[in-house]
Amino acid sequence: MKKELFALKGMICYSKNQREMIFMEDSYVVCENGICAGVFSQLPEEYKNVPVEDLGNRLIIPGFTDLHLHAPQYAYRGTGMDLELLDWLNTITFPQEARYADLSYAKKAYSIFVDDLKHSFTTRACIFATLHRPATELLMDMLEESGLATMVGKVNMDRNGSPELQEESAQASAADTRQWLEDIKRRYDHTYPILTPRFTPSCTDELMTELGKIQKEYHVPVQSHLSENFGEIAWVKELCPTSRFYGDAYDMFGLFGTKNAESELDYTAASANSNSCPTIMAHCVHSTDEEIQMIKDQGVYIAHCPESNTDIASGIAPIRRYLDMGLHVGLGTDVAGGFSLSMFRAIADTIQVSKLRWRLMDQNLAPVTLEEAFYMATIGGGSFFGKVGSFEKGYEFDAMILDDHNIRHPQEISTRDRLERLVYLSDDRNLVGKYVQGRKVI
Ligand code: GUN
Ligand code: FE
Repeated sequence: MKKELFALKGMICYSKNQREMIFMEDSYVVCENGICAGVFSQLPEEYKNVPVEDLGNRLIIPGFTDLHLHAPQYAYRGTGMDLELLDWLNTITFPQEARYADLSYAKKAYSIFVDDLKHSFTTRACIFATLHRPATELLMDMLEESGLATMVGKVNMDRNGSPELQEESAQASAADTRQWLEDIKRRYDHTYPILTPRFTPSCTDELMTELGKIQKEYHVPVQSHLSENFGEIAWVKELCPTSRFYGDAYDMFGLFGTKNAESELDYTAASANSNSCPTIMAHCVHSTDEEIQMIKDQGVYIAHCPESNTDIASGIAPIRRYLDMGLHVGLGTDVAGGFSLSMFRAIADTIQVSKLRWRLMDQNLAPVTLEEAFYMATIGGGSFFGKVGSFEKGYEFDAMILDDHNIRHPQEISTRDRLERLVYLSDDRNLVGKYVQGRKVI
């Protein structure tokens, strides 16, 4: 399937840059060996005979990357949102995640999650599993089967969990992580491991030291949480008194991006370098100036999760500031802090919370535009996987076909308006096709 040469024809929309979009009516996007060969208003001579799927007036857009979500939490999405982070973890999340020790439960729950993710507006995702190795491998098997491209982490946690949800010791947690990385070596084509210390309060210095070693040995990327909630940040100060700020408590162990990172971090190229540690930090709602500077200097990706930040009352991240500084920002649903898997909803939430921040907190930080939020959902997060999130020549061919005829209107509207309406009004009826790396997924 991947080796096919084909074209999709329709209303093609993608980002030209962070601020502008390209809309091309009755145009072709060509896929060659899983890679985008470009967008054309007329097929060039060399592609004259390729099979074309004519989608009429349907929109064809690049896939969305969900840069942060928790697979085991999908089971209780939309419940338990009257608590703040630390109480929410202890009361709801940890008991729920403990259930994944039971593989038959994991199978039931993960089947629902993977099926829904496959049929969502997501082509790529960076996913937290639980600390359980067998259930994590089961999840990875299912995701591989789905055709999506994902990074999945076996979670590490050796302190402050619950009797049911905590690894025995730092050494046991590290050994299990090595076993996991060995088990899955060469097992998958488009499902990749990512090291996943849950967050500093969950991991002792001894465990972080071991994870730093594993990262260097296996050249795996890293994902975690950062500066999400005031109580959490104060706790990290107590737990890591020598750290200068929260992000430093990861950096001390070599788990915070790449020293001397190029401003355009190329994940695949970077991972060959011994210094490199491609890293995603979810939230960064309350990051200090020093922390933000280190995020920039070391090419750390920020996963902005506005729905979760609203649900568990964490706050509103200064995304305008991050964009203006040229940081890498993608969007995450953070299910089940967030209740919805919809990346269109993540785009809407990004725009909406940025308006509230501007109105209520800081009128120097202008609201995020549709174009900017779309960019974050496509190239912003996609670039963590390499050349992903655009239809420009050379990008991996991730595409979604959108039929919006049920969003009725009595007047003529522009393509930008059609896209904006999908941001606010779409549901699963609107997704009628999906390709990842050239594979037809639905
Ligand atoms: N910090 C540590 N664990 C979690 C989690 O599961 N969800 C969120 N939103 N923040 C966390
Ligand atoms: Fe999270």
